[in-house]
Order: sequence, then structure tokens, then C-alpha cells
Amino acid sequence: MKTLVTNIGQLVDTGDNVGELSILVDHAFLVEGGFIAWVGAEALAPDADQVIDAKNQVCIPGFVDSHSHLIFAGARHEEFSHRMAGSSYQAGGIRSTVQATRSATDAELRANAKKLVAELHASGVTHFEIKSGYGLDLETEIRSLQVASEFTEDVTFLGAHVVPDGISRTDYLALVTGPMLDQAAGIAKWIDVFCDEGAFSVEESRQVLSAGIAKGLRPRMHSNQLKNIGGISLAVELGCASVDHCTHLNPEDIKLLASGQTVATFVPGAEFSTRANYPDVREVIEAGVRVALSTDCNPGSSFTTSMPFVIAVAVRELHFTVDQALWAATKGGALALQNSLGSLAVGSRADFALLDAESYIDLAYRPGVPIVSATYVAGEKVFERTSN
Ligand code: NIG
Ligand code: FE
Repeated sequence: MKTLVTNIGQLVDTGDNVGELSILVDHAFLVEGGFIAWVGAEALAPDADQVIDAKNQVCIPGFVDSHSHLIFAGARHEEFSHRMAGSSYQAGGIRSTVQATRSATDAELRANAKKLVAELHASGVTHFEIKSGYGLDLETEIRSLQVASEFTEDVTFLGAHVVPDGISRTDYLALVTGPMLDQAAGIAKWIDVFCDEGAFSVEESRQVLSAGIAKGLRPRMHSNQLKNIGGISLAVELGCASVDHCTHLNPEDIKLLASGQTVATFVPGAEFSTRANYPDVREVIEAGVRVALSTDCNPGSSFTTSMPFVIAVAVRELHFTVDQALWAATKGGALALQNSLGSLAVGSRADFALLDAESYIDLAYRPGVPIVSATYVAGEKVFERTSN
């Protein structure tokens, strides 16, 4: 089956370098077998079995959300409300979601994740990673990973989110790097650790990630969110695909990141929802660091599934240019997951979103307005907005 996507107002594609976009007009593309088989001037379009009329809307590569925590139960409205009234965010809040998650059935966890995945699709996300990390006992961590694997191939074992109540640090680290990891390694692709104040030290994080790497998992990290305790050098040393949050980076961290392959993933939803100061990415990007943007969707620090919201905040507050932000939410996310998504070049999976907009700039220029009108994964429609 050949499908021609035609009548596109702006066709936006990503290049290899941060912020590199090409904006094509009067262009169309052909989808065959879920992949892009041809891109070119509309006047030269090949024959197809069916047509998707983009109605002069903007077409962008689907967003690649490289960091989400969709497997949980319960919510933390009161905690958020207190924070907005002046209390501070602490890693320990995670433990209240742990209780609710342990009590939830698989069906409940699945239903919650399914709803959030539908929201991701509605925000133009076509590929996403999901972490465990709200079970923090063997049974619930493994159940969480199993449910996550029903939605994505990018499943991350985050047993080392915090030390749960009722177990010593030493015993918990032995569990996470021993029996829990043994089972997690059969399901997850990635291993993650929350390396920060109130969570795990750099040395503990090294222990966790090294154990995961020895079992064949690929490393990624949460770090430098609450404080800079030195996690960046570990991320670069271990070749983490990505180090996420990066709220507090010093010049040495930036140099280290620029010298390695680790992507710096920014999650402005977390600064927004914890009333933290936003990082400034200008020096980071200027130094040559590869950057990504992600929702970090979770019930504590960033309960959003909206990549356009993340882009708008990234532009307004973190000083991304609009082009850099769109690149970071597509190609950057793909690099953070070590895959080749985030592009509409020939050979790419046909993951794209249509924007009811004159320009992709509306992603930041029209904050809070639901401009994503349809989302396609491998050429198949997964979302269509019926009314605005
Ligand atoms: O990425 N920082 C660590 N983990 C999550 C928040 C977890 C929570 O507060 O429930 C994050 O922001
Ligand atoms: Fe996170």
C-alpha cells in the first residue's frame, strides 16, 4: 500500500546538528510499508493507492519522548498545591506514589498508562520511553516493566529511584543490583538511576549502572535535578545514552558533555511543576552538547504529556531557539534513545504529526493551544483532533 501525503503547508525535517531544520514548501512524501519511500516536489509525486490531504497544515516529524514514568497509580494533587503555595520539592515524595502503585492491579496500571499514551499521541508524540520506579519491590518493579513493555520497546529499569521505606540502603542496593536486576534484565532495554540529593550518591549510582551494564542493559541517568553532586562525570564515563534533568550544570560539566556522546536531556515540565529555577541552555548548545527535550511525565514533578508545552517553556525560559527546541524534541529524543527516529528523510519510519498552523513556530508562539491535529505512527493514524 502506497500512501501519498500531499497538500502540506510546511514540511519540516531535522538535520544532524542541534537546531538544524529544513522547511520545505510544495513538497509531498510517500509512505510504503510504514516507512518513507520518497520525498520531493509535489508536482513530481509518484502514483499512490491513497492520499492523505494535509489541508495546507504543517507536517513535522513525530516527537520522540525519551523520558517518561507512565507506570504508576494514584496522584499527588495536594503535594503540587502545597508546592505552589511555597513548600519545596523533595525526592521523598516518590514514596507516596510507591504505596499506591504496589496496591494497584496490572489492569489498573495498564489502564492508567493507556490513557497517558493516548495523551502523548494527542500531543504529537510518536515514540516514547517508559520507566519503572514506583514499585521498588521485586514484584511491583517487574510487573511495572511488563506493563511498560506492552506500550514500547524502550523500557527502562529504574529500581534505583529512591530507597523505599522498610529496608536499609545496603539491603535495597543489594536487591536492585541482584535479584531485581536479574529479572528486569529479561524485560528492560535500559537501566537508570536517580543520582541526586535525597536519592543515590555518585558511588551508589556507579554500582547500580555497572551492574546493569554487566547484564546487558544500556545506561541512562537522572542527575543534577535538585543539586549538582557530580553525576555528569559518571554519565560521560559510563557512556550513558542520556543524562536527564541537568537543571544544575557547571562549566566543567558542560565541557565533559561536549567531549562525550551523552545527550543532555532537559525536562522543563519539572522546573515548572516544582517551581525550580530553569537552566539556561545557551552555553550548553554553544559548547556542542547534543540536547533533547522530554516531558518526564510523572505524577510528582512533571505531570504533563504535552510536548508542545515543553517546547514553549523551553523556548521562553531555557533560551532554546524555536528551531533548537523542535530539533531537541524530535531528533534529540531519538539520539537519547539511540535510534534513528525524529526525521522524515527517505528510509525513516513514517512517524509524523500535522499542526493546524501556518508555521511550526506556533509550537512556541501559541502556548497552550492544541494545534496538533493528527498524529501518525508508521503511516497509521493514532490520533485525530475532532474539534478544537
Ligand atoms: O524525573 N527525579 C526523579 N524522578 C522523577 C520524579 C519522581 C516523583 O516525584 O514522583 C523525575 O522528576
Ligand atoms: Fe524522571
